[in-house]
Amino acid sequence: MPTTRRSILIGGAALAGGAFAGGYGIFAQSARQGGGPLPIPRLVDATANGGDFDLSIQEGETRIVAAAATRTFGYSGSILGPVVRVRSGQTIRANVTNRLPVESSVHWHGLFVPSDVDGPFNPIPAGQTWSPELRIDQPAATTWFHPHPHGDTARQTYMGLAGLLYLEDGSAAEFNLPRDYGVDDLPIVLQDRIFGPDGQFIYDRSPMALMHGSRGDVILVNGAVRPIARPPAGLVRLRLLDGANARNFRLAFADERIFHVVANDAGWLAEPVPLKEIEIAPGERYEIVVDLSDGRAVDLLTWPDHNGRFGDGLTERAKEFLARMRERREVVLRLEPGPAGDRPKRGLPRRLQDPGRPDVAKSVRRRSFTFDSMMMANMPMMRGGGAMGHAGHGPPAASRAPFVHGASDGMRMGINGKTYDMGRIDAEVALGSQEIWEIVSTEMAHPFHIHGATFRTLTKGGKPVAAHEAGIKDTVLVDSRAELIVSFRQPSTREKPFVFHCHILEHEELGMMGTYLSQPSA
Ligand code: C2O
Ligand code: CU
Ligand code: CU
Repeated sequence: MPTTRRSILIGGAALAGGAFAGGYGIFAQSARQGGGPLPIPRLVDATANGGDFDLSIQEGETRIVAAAATRTFGYSGSILGPVVRVRSGQTIRANVTNRLPVESSVHWHGLFVPSDVDGPFNPIPAGQTWSPELRIDQPAATTWFHPHPHGDTARQTYMGLAGLLYLEDGSAAEFNLPRDYGVDDLPIVLQDRIFGPDGQFIYDRSPMALMHGSRGDVILVNGAVRPIARPPAGLVRLRLLDGANARNFRLAFADERIFHVVANDAGWLAEPVPLKEIEIAPGERYEIVVDLSDGRAVDLLTWPDHNGRFGDGLTERAKEFLARMRERREVVLRLEPGPAGDRPKRGLPRRLQDPGRPDVAKSVRRRSFTFDSMMMANMPMMRGGGAMGHAGHGPPAASRAPFVHGASDGMRMGINGKTYDMGRIDAEVALGSQEIWEIVSTEMAHPFHIHGATFRTLTKGGKPVAAHEAGIKDTVLVDSRAELIVSFRQPSTREKPFVFHCHILEHEELGMMGTYLSQPSA
């Protein structure tokens, strides 16, 4: 395996990411069978017990493929986490105990909370408990939590650490949207993994995988392969999260039926937006409502993701191969509606919650951030000059899972030419103010994400943003460039600044992350 893999890497650098699956092709075929029921995470209702809930960061084993149980990480379970339900206006206390042999941390991605109760600068050493108090002060949204310990975020997330946090404020009932948890309101966590023949995760940290972000050839939904959901016939709400390290999913139903987007990252759209296809990038959330009242089974499909995979080094044959791959869609999830029973027939609401028009005039300044893969500087590593093979630095010695394929030291990425430095403040903003941030991507599309703030997207690639992306967001896929109006909602300190970064976790780790200080203006 190492020999073949190495020659693929060196022989056709730009193709390697796409061809990686080939190395495990035979196994991947069987891993793709799947077809079990869609796993529905346990619901932890923090609205019921005074707002306290426990999370345990732990190792475990999960049955995902036929070969064997896979070693995984999870929050209070073997993989992923419970869905935690909280209400706006509540104060909750999370008691997070780290039972891993290494340091971790928990970032509340999408919660408006100060930096001193959020992950990046609040590491939880092995064996310790961290109990932040979180005041929930924002409208209904689907948010999530995941590890953020610098240097180990990507591996810990790959091993399975990710959970959903539902913020409720009564508006879903007001709009009469499906809200029966696990029945017609389904959590859908999208990820991709590589499995070895022994059923264990393989984490690709070869230079090419780092350059484009690490992908897998097996798609998981809530930790299962091609699962089947059996909601009652009628309207069904899917809460989509792209929880992959790097992969974008371009989703559509096999019969091309129209669905409606009702919410994006931080809340409702002004009205349901009809679409046939939607692209979701790492860190993003979309809530869609699909009409299954005809009772017919339908597959949710994804197109392959080629972000960053087209390079100048491609031969004509490689280009042809990729073009053909492009047309092949894969089944992500199957929906097999059952009888509607005596459930009342519901229609889509005409209006949701209008986030209003972003007011450009109120922005106090303009900044520009270029997300740079530093391709030229990293070229020697890409050509195989860096540390290759299975040694390399890999995961911390105390915790060896998963098997790391290829590790490379010395690759760097940055923003405005600067690699992440936790001791440096890259921007100072006034708490409560808004600024226009221009985000520029070079070489490939990067999902921009910011902590402690939300934004409205003004333009993407010079064009006005699409209706389903026009709501309040915290993550956006930037291909070429985007203009955002950022609202700084929460305070941070010099010791514990907020961060903004590319949500391709390998890019973040290689330094595509900056810090900002958000304080009341004097
Ligand atoms: Cu979801 Cu800083 O990340
Ligand atoms: Cu975040
Ligand atoms: Cu990136």
